[in-house]
Amino acid sequence: MKIGIIGSGNIGGTLGKRWAAKGHQVMLSSRDPQGEKMQALAQEAGENASTGTAQAAIAFGDVIVLAVPFNQAGAILSEADDLHNKIVIDAMNRFDGQSAGMEVVRLAKNGRVVKAFNTVAWEVIAQPQYGVANASLLFAGDDADAKRVVAQLCAELGFDPLDVGGADNIPALESALMPLWRLLGPLLGREYGLRILKRGE
Ligand SMILES: NC(=O)c1ccc[n+]([C@@H]2O[C@H](COP(=O)([O-])OP(=O)(O)OC[C@H]3O[C@@H](n4cnc5c(N)ncnc54)[C@H](OP(=O)(O)O)[C@@H]3O)[C@@H](O)[C@H]2O)c1
Repeated sequence: MKIGIIGSGNIGGTLGKRWAAKGHQVMLSSRDPQGEKMQALAQEAGENASTGTAQAAIAFGDVIVLAVPFNQAGAILSEADDLHNKIVIDAMNRFDGQSAGMEVVRLAKNGRVVKAFNTVAWEVIAQPQYGVANASLLFAGDDADAKRVVAQLCAELGFDPLDVGGADNIPALESALMPLWRLLGPLLGREYGLRILKRGE
């Protein structure tokens, strides 16, 4: 697939490198795409990766990943205007009690928004395998086709994808894991994984 990564820091850089290694075409974006840091990242990500501006990455991708600080996303989406049915993976968290994802749903004009990756630290995205078990990756959104694609992309990284419902559930997905993060982080550090067990497995 062609994947445009908006924000190539901890989350975007990790996702970009891993999907490029799986054979996807990835454009990693930055405000300084030609800079030393981005060129080093692109080199590390290999031949399937290129760099560009946020708008170039949006134009490039069939799938777009939002991995910038939330306060940057509004301007980027407004400038992009019509997203022509592209899949928009929103990985952002927001720390004022409001929902980042619902704002993305509102602003991503003709984008098919799926909330995903906001519940795991980037270190877990880098390595979702824990011995014989792999971590669950919870995602939510209204578009069934978009969610199938996102589930496949999560599985390729080694996660156990878990669809937790429609866009109405995005605020719960964003807020539910924060208390757990505050509880478990001091005990286990950043790299703990959660695995949701289901009957019938
Ligand atoms: N860190 C985690 O483990 C984690 C976990 C779950 C969710 N999240 C969420 O994921 C998002 C990214 O977190 P992060 O830790 O990856 O942040 P980060 O390492 O600071 O990376 C953010 C990137 O966004 C880029 N950026 C900022 N403004 C931009 C703009 N206007 N246009 C294009 N690129 C822009 C920056 O690149 P340039 O300076 O090169 O432009 C930077 O590399 C946040 O919303 C965060 O809440 C993070």
